[in-house]
Amino acid sequence: MTEIFGIMIVGSGRKRPPAGLTTENHPTHMLALKEESRMSILVTGGCGYIGSHTCIELLKAGRDIVVIDNYYNAKPEALRRVKELAGKDFPFYECDIRDEEGLRRVFAAHDIEAVIHFAGLKAVGESVSKPLEYYDNNVGGTVTLCRVMAEAGCKRIVFSSSATVYGMNNPSPLKEDMPTGAVTNPYGRTKYIIEEILKDVCVSDPAWTAVLLRYFNPIGAHESGRIGEDPNGIPNNLMPYISQVAIGKLPQLAIHGDDYDTHDGTGVRDYIHVVDLADGHLKAVDYAMTHTGAEAFNLGTGRGYSVLDLVKAFESANGVPVPHVIGPRRAGDIATCYSDPSKAERVLGWKAKRGVEDMCRDSWRWQSQNPKGYDE
Ligand code: NAD
Ligand code: UFG
Repeated sequence: MTEIFGIMIVGSGRKRPPAGLTTENHPTHMLALKEESRMSILVTGGCGYIGSHTCIELLKAGRDIVVIDNYYNAKPEALRRVKELAGKDFPFYECDIRDEEGLRRVFAAHDIEAVIHFAGLKAVGESVSKPLEYYDNNVGGTVTLCRVMAEAGCKRIVFSSSATVYGMNNPSPLKEDMPTGAVTNPYGRTKYIIEEILKDVCVSDPAWTAVLLRYFNPIGAHESGRIGEDPNGIPNNLMPYISQVAIGKLPQLAIHGDDYDTHDGTGVRDYIHVVDLADGHLKAVDYAMTHTGAEAFNLGTGRGYSVLDLVKAFESANGVPVPHVIGPRRAGDIATCYSDPSKAERVLGWKAKRGVEDMCRDSWRWQSQNPKGYDE
């Protein structure tokens, strides 16, 4: 842990300043609030795409948060905008989840009641060429985090898992009780292994709760257009690619195959608005407060859209053309992947509200207002 950025102002559940960190920007009016030690939610990877949107929804719901991130795939500007949009400040630590001592200091400084654990590496292709980095960061980091949580007596974790754990062999709609683990790349394997580790932790100590959120395909951005997905280099995922073609940064979209067994031959996925996904985390934290054990939930809409469907939806929602060509299949892709989201609705009381038009409109608002992402 190397620096502290934007120490909180409003009732942040702070116990005492962490050792070695500056206290000079402590606002004086905090003294009045110090008596009341409120519990906070620790958000790991909170500067990233899904984390930043979730921080806003948590703050809007009146929750106190503490954020850590190592800035591997994020920029400080993202959190600055989160604070601006929420109208609230909160503590942030530049801290790696593999830094045990750094984590200890964060837990010593705050009363943390639950952790939402986004921090991780997520590029499927990169994970094939750098498997050890993925196992070290994602699996090793989660083990370290859980160890420090247990020491601090905080035993509630909401984990960012992925539909990828269902692998290649299950038919859609995918349900939580289907077999997992037949994954095709190291990234997916880290998600599967972490799910299994968290299940084992819950068996070992019945005080633990692990909510395993299996995300489908998050797209879209905050409706303000101030925060969104800011990929490094040429995007791998469909929506950022479409947006960058639409704005003229990339010449055309290559559609990875049109000979799949789907309604138009292109791959079908369950796209979910990132703000709906963020809302799912609030419900998951509420669930974690009143349950123990490990439980998996799909966070998706239950509807599948093909690549061509999404291209057309984007063009019609935004009135901009997306030049595209049909290319070969991408290795490792499956034809169809969409969720059965009924368990999340039944148990968590969560359902995605936003449609594909909202997703396309909000993605474009973010891209067109921030053509260079957070580098403006
Ligand atoms: P992101 O890269 O935007 O956010 C991840 C954040 O974690 C980044 O800010 C990064 O700097 C930080 N981070 C990485 N390693 C860290 C470490 N060792 N210590 C501290 N911080 C670290 O990714 P995202 O799209 O917001 O995804 C969040 C989580 O959801 C990830 O775990 C990802 O695997 C998972 N997920 C994402 C998708 C998707 O399509 N975006 C789908 C399924 C699951
Ligand atoms: N696609 C294209 N052209 C592109 C990019 C994607 O045609 O330039 C197609 C893909 O072939 C696929 C669909 O668009 O049919 C969606 O592809 P994405 O890369 O956006 O998403 P995936 O479903 O392949 O993968 C995503 C995440 C993974 C995660 C998985 C399941 O990137 O990390 O969802 O949750 F594991």
